[in-house]
Amino acid sequence: MTTTPTAAQPTAVDVVDPAGPSLIATLPGRAYTDPDGFRREQELIFERLWFCAVRGADLARPGAFRTVRVGRESVLITRNRAGELRAFLNICRHRGAQLCTEESGEVRRNLQCPYHAWTYDLDGRLVAAPNLQKMPDVDRTERGLVPVPLREWLGYAWVCLADDPPSFEDTVIGAAVERLGDAAVLDHYRTETLALGRRIGYDVRANWKLIVENFMECYHCATIHPELTDVLPEFADGFAAQYYVGHGAAFAPEAQGFTVDGSAGFGRLPGIDDSQDRRYYAVTVRPQVFVNLVPDHVILHRMFPLAADRTLVECDWLYLPEVLDSGADVAKSVELFHRVNVQDFAACERTQPAMDSRAYRDGGVLVPSEHHIGGFHAWVTAQLAAGCG
Ligand code: FES
Ligand SMILES: [Fe+2]
Repeated sequence: MTTTPTAAQPTAVDVVDPAGPSLIATLPGRAYTDPDGFRREQELIFERLWFCAVRGADLARPGAFRTVRVGRESVLITRNRAGELRAFLNICRHRGAQLCTEESGEVRRNLQCPYHAWTYDLDGRLVAAPNLQKMPDVDRTERGLVPVPLREWLGYAWVCLADDPPSFEDTVIGAAVERLGDAAVLDHYRTETLALGRRIGYDVRANWKLIVENFMECYHCATIHPELTDVLPEFADGFAAQYYVGHGAAFAPEAQGFTVDGSAGFGRLPGIDDSQDRRYYAVTVRPQVFVNLVPDHVILHRMFPLAADRTLVECDWLYLPEVLDSGADVAKSVELFHRVNVQDFAACERTQPAMDSRAYRDGGVLVPSEHHIGGFHAWVTAQLAAGCG
């Protein structure tokens, strides 16, 4: 079964102009290679917007911590003794040593700087330092770790380095709702109650924007995703779920589940009704999160841009805890989108070197089924322009 866009389907996203030219321009090649441009993106995008940093359940106990690179900063996220997540700049307030050098770990009560042993509690307060009693004028809160705003959503800790963070409701939740057309569509998956079945990290030698653009379009699906188009045959026509507001791509009639061979998955999550069953929804939460919704699990990608031409992607497969507790084998379920990831990232890496070519000096073009990517380009340009004001 294949479908082409018809009036019966949800509307294409706003930026698509059916009366416009077939081909519209992409960003120029240097937007994907220029180190100064990447630095500006770190400053004006990743350090200004909410950034999905860690999964809350990865920090299960008080004292567990993770360090995450957000823009040019290292952010330390931990769970305090009251069980709440806290985020701080990973910098000692004495002379600036990096407090935690490990990517993850667990402390008993306090975080101690390895340089001169200034010691902070899990709420960031300075609680001890050599000779601190002889310095009664030192304010232990003022000299505590620099806090970073943190919100929890979908079971993940989102942090924001902006002095005045934008509305989480508008820029994060609102982005998902805008794409899905209705907040309830996402709520039905109860993502925050799901458990981690598998996590795979990908070190992708490509600019983060190429990865976003790739995720937003399906013009490539027929060429590089044979397993995915077997399960979602409408993708073979090149119109991705993200081309439409509120559209979930229908499973093939013969597909029993969202698995690499179309075999049965794990039924459906308790909140999923018939209208969302046997459908795949995809959401991009700019700048660095992709959410994929299928009836029996959720796949969430977080991107960590490291350089103009390098991005780490961490992909989580989330299932009902009872499915995992039962010892069910999720391998075929995971394998489908793992293959999609490998296929997609290989395509992005194939594209990255050309960004430096004179052939791509003025960029490339977007065909009609990719025109909605123009909205992403306009968004990036607007973020950078706003920072110049
Ligand atoms: S720099 Fe951390 S205690 Fe001195
Ligand atoms: Fe793809």
